[in-house]
Amino acid sequence: MAKIIAANWKMNKLRSEAEDVAKVLGQAIRDKKVPADRTIMVFPPYLSLPPVAKALEGCERTLVGAQNFYPEESGAFTGEISLPMIQDAGAHWVLVGHSERRHILMESDEFIAKKTKYALDHGFGVVLCIGETLEEREGGKLNEVLARQISTALEPLPFDVQTLEKSLMIAYEPVWAIGTGKVAGEKEVLEAHGLVKELLGKHSVLPVLYGGSVKPGNAASLLALDNVDGLLVGGASLAAESFLAIINA
Ligand code: 13P
Repeated sequence: MAKIIAANWKMNKLRSEAEDVAKVLGQAIRDKKVPADRTIMVFPPYLSLPPVAKALEGCERTLVGAQNFYPEESGAFTGEISLPMIQDAGAHWVLVGHSERRHILMESDEFIAKKTKYALDHGFGVVLCIGETLEEREGGKLNEVLARQISTALEPLPFDVQTLEKSLMIAYEPVWAIGTGKVAGEKEVLEAHGLVKELLGKHSVLPVLYGGSVKPGNAASLLALDNVDGLLVGGASLAAESFLAIINA
């Protein structure tokens, strides 16, 4: 199965900077300088969606998404962005449940579940992020936290695995490994991904990506682990050179 390599640019880059990186990526993809068994995803900030989508237009196996959205079509939701606006900007995927939205913006499991269902119901693809804090891990709560995050988001979904398989991915991102330089060790990634696949139950065909301090130097060994179907990359996806090195790992 093709490995999925996704870039989450978070709140970084002006439009022109985002466009420049996307153009380099687009050229590399068109010139077939990336392996055929890779699916590439890019999640730029909202304002950079149009130039990034344009730069990657027509690139094979390449998807563009937004980092967030509000689950209503339009109306009095000051500061929010709807799915039709995102679609109009050229993107068809969304990140949901990222730890920064759970912990900094205080999004609840219930709101994340609502957003997941809403996006899927409206024809968008979703990368659903899950993961435990260090405190939860050290308190022996890994299983409980992942089970709660998975079941609240997946239980309301109508079960049609063939449709879901094309439009839903899980990203396991241990909070303590995000932006800290502390990549989870092989044993921890194997254990957590095995657990996520088990907790997914009837949804276990969904791809499960790993995220948290992925770099060009550790990407190949992470991708080689059982049940790691791809990578969700923050800091190391900001420069085209290092993101391409991860894609080619
Ligand atoms: P870093 O790769 O910077 O640790 O970020 C991971 C992440 O949160 C991707 O969504």
